[in-house]
Amino acid sequence: MDTATTTRYVHGYSAREAGRLGDQADTLAALLHTGTAYPAGSRVLEVGCGVGAQTVHLVRASPGVHLTAVDVSAASLAEARARVTGAAPGADVVWRAADLFDLPFPDASFDHLFVCFVLEHLADPHRALTGLRRVLRPGGTITVIEGDHGSAFFHPASIFATAAVDCLVQLQADAGGDGLLGRRLQPLLAGAGYGEVRVEPRPVYVDATRPALVEGFTLQTFTAMVESVREDALLAGLITEQAWDRGVTDLRRTAEDGGTFHYTFFKATAVLPAG
Ligand SMILES: C[S@@+](CC[C@H](N)C(=O)[O-])C[C@H]1O[C@@H](n2cnc3c(N)ncnc32)[C@H](O)[C@@H]1O
Repeated sequence: MDTATTTRYVHGYSAREAGRLGDQADTLAALLHTGTAYPAGSRVLEVGCGVGAQTVHLVRASPGVHLTAVDVSAASLAEARARVTGAAPGADVVWRAADLFDLPFPDASFDHLFVCFVLEHLADPHRALTGLRRVLRPGGTITVIEGDHGSAFFHPASIFATAAVDCLVQLQADAGGDGLLGRRLQPLLAGAGYGEVRVEPRPVYVDATRPALVEGFTLQTFTAMVESVREDALLAGLITEQAWDRGVTDLRRTAEDGGTFHYTFFKATAVLPAG
């Protein structure tokens, strides 16, 4: 999927990454999807659906919608279809392999757009948001969810763990993306011509009293995401092997008794002005 407009997807398309996206979506479903429910009969487009990890939660929260899900990766789409067919068999979903910069839909085809963890991987998120306006009907809404790796802080603090997280941010930037995009959602949406932009920070806080989040977020989502770029970080000479291993060990220590972890997602909604 290397094109002039799409950056290399820093996390790759491995089975392990597909599992991580599923864990992430399931663990964070309430946090990320609360407030997103579309009326039955609405035409909804999910942009960059990946392996369908969010799609399952979208269709469960909005029974009766007509969902179209697109991704550039045909392999991810096949996995998404299998996942959603298994988890929500009655859902009305059309799957399309397509580049979000060149969508094969007529103007104003959709009432609502849903874009989760996609903009951070694009070289030009402004152009993506501007282009998406074409397929949204006037008065329709867009919902965008992004993380921001700069929002990660934890106890015990560790310069090695922070350095490992910084490697991920650097690699994503080298690939043309932005792992710190969450903080830019309001200016991006407003700059792309959307109105009524509202951004809600949605923090995740984890300690030993929240064992499901210790496993599902600190270990299986965040630490797994950092660990997935080990080889690239070492190959790029961003960090020594010893410092990397210490960083990951220290990240894992935040999931042990006495450790704590914080991360903030940003969820934005906006409306396409009429006229
Ligand atoms: C981090 S994944 C997120 C998947 C899903 N939204 C989720 O939250 O689980 C990013 C997805 O965006 C897709 N993507 C990247 N550039 C794209 C483009 N130009 N057009 C369509 N999909 C794209 C990738 O193939 C990948 O599946």
